[in-house]
Amino acid sequence: MTLSRRKTLALIGGGTIFAASASAAGFLTTRTPHDAQRPWTLAGSYDDPRLNALSFALLAPNPHNLQPWQVALEGDDALTLHHDRSRRLPATDPFDRQIMIGMGCFVEQMVLAAGAGGQAVDLTLFPEGDDGAIAHATFRDGGTPDPLSAHILDRRSCKEPFEDRAVPAVLANQLEDYADIYTDAASVAALKDLTWKAWEVEALTPHTMQESVDLMRFGKAEINANPDGIDLGGPFLESLMVAGILSRDVQSDPSSRGFQEGVKMYNEMLHATPAYAALTSPTNTRVDHIDAGRRWLRLNLATTSMGLALHPVSQALQEYPEMAPHYAQAHDMLAPMGHTVQMLGRLGYGPTIPRTPRWPLEQKLINA
Ligand SMILES: Cc1cc2nc3c(=O)[nH]c(=O)nc-3n(C[C@H](O)[C@H](O)[C@H](O)COP(=O)(O)O)c2cc1C
Repeated sequence: MTLSRRKTLALIGGGTIFAASASAAGFLTTRTPHDAQRPWTLAGSYDDPRLNALSFALLAPNPHNLQPWQVALEGDDALTLHHDRSRRLPATDPFDRQIMIGMGCFVEQMVLAAGAGGQAVDLTLFPEGDDGAIAHATFRDGGTPDPLSAHILDRRSCKEPFEDRAVPAVLANQLEDYADIYTDAASVAALKDLTWKAWEVEALTPHTMQESVDLMRFGKAEINANPDGIDLGGPFLESLMVAGILSRDVQSDPSSRGFQEGVKMYNEMLHATPAYAALTSPTNTRVDHIDAGRRWLRLNLATTSMGLALHPVSQALQEYPEMAPHYAQAHDMLAPMGHTVQMLGRLGYGPTIPRTPRWPLEQKLINA
């Protein structure tokens, strides 16, 4: 559960918990998990064009930042991308639909980064069928840079309240090349209501909430040790941890004050949204999931290039019984032709936020 700096200040009553001592000030200024963020600074620093492209690909958005990718390098110019099946979200993503969308984001970012380095990539998706490897890729000379690749390092999923400021029609029209964009008051109001109610179901259904809690990393040491999952770091959140307001137990207990404050913050954040983006597909195959991920990544890079923030809000699209009414409503609203809604996201103007953790590239190579 991400808590914004502003709300956190409110929660700790003015942010004075640590103000008293110099050692506390030192503690507060050293909370950035640099090790966990290092892959962002290593991107593009490899000699092998495949490793270079992969070093950008692993910065792709992916559900709960599980980073479920594994890569086998083959010969001098090829690789196979696999799903590390120990990394799944069985409670909220029982069919791995969202995991595969994250894989699509990875594939697209790999292809864009290869192109920026003058390499083209010949891709075969699911070369052994749906249950085998995700993709086989062969690199060769002749790629051309796509302008979107310039925004890879600045792209974020912005989990913050957005400004009370409309998305200009000219930008919304350009983004229609990538996704369905909703800016009209009636649709925006209905989507706020839907995303909030769906978020409540996930948070108040014990086994789906516990799936998130199990993936929370509390503070710098945990984040550096496991640079994935839901990272709860930075000086303000760590202040709350020391004060006992934020902990794994608190997050598992809906009656606790800390949990209820989190609920309030999410309510406020989800309602501070001027527009939405949605991706649909006529069918719902594995290839559609990869394709949706590739489209989402391009949308996120395009929003980055425009100074706009994008935040996936997937709860209403999740496939478990407690969510069924909201899933049906999302599909009635966003895919009335019987298509599948693959992604839904908040769109607007948000604050600048830090990079999220990543495992190093070397940890993801299975035959290195
Ligand atoms: C398929 C998919 C679904 C996601 N769903 C959510 C979501 O429901 N809520 C959320 O806060 N972030 C969601 N995210 C964003 C991830 O949490 C985010 O990509 C990850 O933490 C890495 O952060 P970054 O995108 O800023 O690099 C989703 C991302 C993907 C690809």
